[in-house]
Amino acid sequence: MPKVVTLPGDGIGPEVTAAAVAVLREVAPDVTIEEHAIGGGAYEAHGEPFPAATRDALKDADAVLLGTVGGAHDSPWNKLPRPLRPESGLLALRKALGCYANLRPVRVQPGLEHLSPLKPELARGVDILIVRELLGGIYFDGDRKIEGSSAYNTMRYTTPEVERVADMAFWAAEQRKGRVTSVDKANVLEVSELWRRDVQALRDRKYRGVHLNHEYVDSVAMLIVSDPGRYDVIVTENLFGDILSDLAAVIPGSLGLMPSASLGDGPGLFEPIHGSAPDIAGKGIANPAAAIMSVGMLLRHGLSRSDAANAVDRAVALALRAHPTRDLGGTAGTRTFTRAVLDAMETPAVG
Ligand code: NAD
Ligand code: IPM
Ligand code: MN
Repeated sequence: MPKVVTLPGDGIGPEVTAAAVAVLREVAPDVTIEEHAIGGGAYEAHGEPFPAATRDALKDADAVLLGTVGGAHDSPWNKLPRPLRPESGLLALRKALGCYANLRPVRVQPGLEHLSPLKPELARGVDILIVRELLGGIYFDGDRKIEGSSAYNTMRYTTPEVERVADMAFWAAEQRKGRVTSVDKANVLEVSELWRRDVQALRDRKYRGVHLNHEYVDSVAMLIVSDPGRYDVIVTENLFGDILSDLAAVIPGSLGLMPSASLGDGPGLFEPIHGSAPDIAGKGIANPAAAIMSVGMLLRHGLSRSDAANAVDRAVALALRAHPTRDLGGTAGTRTFTRAVLDAMETPAVG
């Protein structure tokens, strides 16, 4: 029996994870689910944001389903030494799992164009896969310090780090429209010059059937929302990918519609890209769609169950049509939306 470790975390994490688990139980009743602590709650209970018991549970896991971590801007967690903060727990989890490629799909399902603030003709048919490098760059470099009135961080990449995530992007493009846009800041940064050179070299060596172009991150920030149809697969470094993917959430209509899969050496990590949303936590109004769609990605990439994954995606689309949540201009709360997804999974597919 496959084992899935769930890590609900902080803020709306437990609310959206409960919804996701209800869906997982429905479509994959044979899966063993084991819940563990992560983030600020884990620090309160165990003195660290990524406790040993959680780390141990990953050893025989087939996949990991994460909610969200972190507190509000005025949370005392933000004053802890950095290694003890909730976000450091998440970064340590990603590192422990070795998942260097974070796949963040941006899709506008047919019939859901009205949920986008973009003009329907721009939103229609958008299907972008952002592949974000997840274990390197400025997030993880040890050369970092804040001291008095001076502080620095270092963005550093090596060729093997660039190649492994680019390889994942080219591989994904081969199953899609065969186009990759590599995003960098090579007009200013040496680290981007290396990135661009290595991505191009891998394409020329191994993926001659894939079309590759290079764009600057500032320009992509404009084009991704003004002409999203131009993109198929986007591959970029850690920090650029973090920022561009929140921006891309505008296209489907909400951060609550952005799932992700982080893949690499070990079991995959599946999580919504949004945060703990302290402003709405505990109110029962969080949109659980991203967490539920992350279950879809878990079924597809973590457990190789594409039929079940398709059933989840289809049910989410039906629920979004009938019961949009508040972030999408509707009135459905977390429970109502989740019930709608569960109900939709019971109705036979047509067409
Ligand atoms: P956020 O993503 O939590 O919230 C941004 C805005 O989007 C808020 O208005 C929030 O209410 C809304 N929102 C987000 N998800 C939603 C959902 N599912 N349904 C409805 N509305 C939703 O970003 P933030 O406020 O900048 O960060 C809050 C905390 O979350 C911080 O501590 C941050 O570090 C953390 N964070 C964690 C993760 C993660 O666990 N992967 C990701 C991003 C931010
Ligand atoms: C995300 C989040 C995280 C990141 C934070 C909470 C560490 O913003 O998953 O996008 O920056 O990777
Ligand atoms: Mn982010």
